[in-house]
Amino acid sequence: MATEIRKKLLRMFTETEDDFLSGQKISEELGCSRTAVWKHIEDLRQEGFELEAVRRKGYRIKKIPDKISHNEITLGLKTTSLGRQVHFKESVTSTQKIAHQLAYDGVPEGTLVVSEEQTTGRGRLNRSWHSPKYTGVWMSLILRPNLPPAKAPQLTLLTAVAITQAIEEVTGLRPDIKWPNDILINKKKAVGILTEMQAEADKINSVIIGMGINVNHQIDHFPKELHSIATSLSIELGKTVNRAELIQSILLHLENLYERYLQHGFYPIKLLWESYAISIGKRIIARTITGTLEGLAKGITEDGILMLEDDQNCIHYIHSADIQI
Ligand code: BTN
Repeated sequence: MATEIRKKLLRMFTETEDDFLSGQKISEELGCSRTAVWKHIEDLRQEGFELEAVRRKGYRIKKIPDKISHNEITLGLKTTSLGRQVHFKESVTSTQKIAHQLAYDGVPEGTLVVSEEQTTGRGRLNRSWHSPKYTGVWMSLILRPNLPPAKAPQLTLLTAVAITQAIEEVTGLRPDIKWPNDILINKKKAVGILTEMQAEADKINSVIIGMGINVNHQIDHFPKELHSIATSLSIELGKTVNRAELIQSILLHLENLYERYLQHGFYPIKLLWESYAISIGKRIIARTITGTLEGLAKGITEDGILMLEDDQNCIHYIHSADIQI
């Protein structure tokens, strides 16, 4: 919708407050046909406005979209490196894709890509990630640690700890982590993390950490097949969560943990991760690309790899799998 028309229409709605605005009045004031009015109303709906339409009365706004902006993310951000450069978008295919290109172009460590919507969000194991507009936090962070590529999975676990701490701080909820990086609330998934790398044989050039957080979704924002396994912070809390505040908190926790990790190694992070882990010490089923294993989750190695003891007391080291508790 042309910006001027959009502004005029929103001004009309603001002026009439809770009253209905008839299609006739809108068409006269905007100088366009009734069909064009209907099209503008649909455009507003697409932008996240909830509009009520009643025959013979017209339209009224029920809810203004809960948008975030570049300023809201950066003003008051307490980090020194992470998120100091933010690429904020209304809609992208995937923030991972944009971040990969930026990393390749040489942007500094800490650069963050955030989008209000992803049309083809990507999950682990080649799955898609549902990323509807104005509901979640869809973002990818670029790190450039001076580490060998084998250490990259540790950053996934570190990120899971940072997001868990931020959710606790901002909402008071108590999330659990399911290896390697699913964050669950009341046993349903609220967060997914996808870590990808640009590397040479012995050196990481960049790590792109994709974070998908279901924040203000209501249950009907999720496709039916996810209803029994997915949740959002708002569903669990019973109220809306400030997404910009959550992003700032995640970045600050991540920066603190990342500094600690670079100075002292993975051990302190491993201890924190274990304190939130739900699967350790329990019987689990691990579905890997080479087959399914069942047994006791013994813990994680110094490199963040899952140790599973099967019924013959044989220990398996699992690098990537879907875990069922
Ligand atoms: C998972 O499968 O659990 C990982 C999901 C990761 C989703 C995030 S949303 C932001 C970033 N962009 C993507 O396309 N994927 C990640």
